[in-house]
Amino acid sequence: MTDLVAIARSLMAPGKGILAADESVHTATARLADYGISTSADMRRQFRDLFIGAEGIEQYLSGIILFSETLLQKGSDKKLFPKSLVARGIFPGIKVDLGTEPFPESSHELITQGLLDLPERLMQYKKQGAVFTKWRAVIRIDGDDLPTNVALHENAKRLASYAKEVQSAGLVPILEPEILLEGKHSRIRARAVIEEMFQTLFSVLAEHSVDRASIIVKTSMALSGSASGKKDTPEEVAEDTVAALVASVPPQVAGIVFLSGGQTPDQATANLAAITRRANEAGAPWPLTFSFARALQDEALEVWKGKEENVPAARSAFLARLAKVSAALSSM
Ligand code: 13P
Repeated sequence: MTDLVAIARSLMAPGKGILAADESVHTATARLADYGISTSADMRRQFRDLFIGAEGIEQYLSGIILFSETLLQKGSDKKLFPKSLVARGIFPGIKVDLGTEPFPESSHELITQGLLDLPERLMQYKKQGAVFTKWRAVIRIDGDDLPTNVALHENAKRLASYAKEVQSAGLVPILEPEILLEGKHSRIRARAVIEEMFQTLFSVLAEHSVDRASIIVKTSMALSGSASGKKDTPEEVAEDTVAALVASVPPQVAGIVFLSGGQTPDQATANLAAITRRANEAGAPWPLTFSFARALQDEALEVWKGKEENVPAARSAFLARLAKVSAALSSM
């Protein structure tokens, strides 16, 4: 039997983190368009290869979350991406949710889809080399009106069903209820919503008898909304993020990882360093690390622009950011 706790703990290895390279076709198309790159299946393959094929990433990455299309694609070394990762001691993961749709009971909120054929897809992803998975729920804050309890609860139920299926299939689940940065809300409101979401989630996980020791939680940092006009200091972010997590995430989980959520690479890195320091001071019980997409990829994409001749310089930019983010994990 697969030792899920051991895999989850290895994903949280000191000094290492997880790259989220799991943008759906739709999101990857939009992301590449931001850099003037028009997309095709092969352009997306080159986009993944830019990061996966970079020499030396195993020093900083314990895992990479892939998208289903990428599991079947090959890098310029002619190896399937999951095989090339395993050869370097990096765990291949897979995003298994199928995106969001409007929630019928509260039309301004979103609900995540993908449970119906999940067991069959998990078998397939496992055969294709995935050892861990991710499911993302999306939580929007709007004043005191959103999120509604019913949307928090429905997203928590789906995260719990997902986690249960994934553990039965012998894979590690990452549960990601993302609190969106977009909005006018205060950092204190974001902190309260993070806390409420995780309290709801862990009570539903207990009802579904999900094993906490082999789950990883992926969270937003507590930040003032992007339209609030407020710029938080790393110390403020750290104080509220750690407080929310200490109040709501049980010590048994294998670890907590952070998404970057639209922060600049420097902001996400500085906030991660402050969170690490604060968590150490507070004696927080779980290991922490990063699981960024944009904050790890943006600088490299800016250099790459979809051009073969820019690959070495783009990879250097990626490795430089990885080194900074990894250094943030040893902030004391
Ligand atoms: P960002 O770091 O760009 O927020 O992406 C992380 C992620 O996995 C979102 O689902």
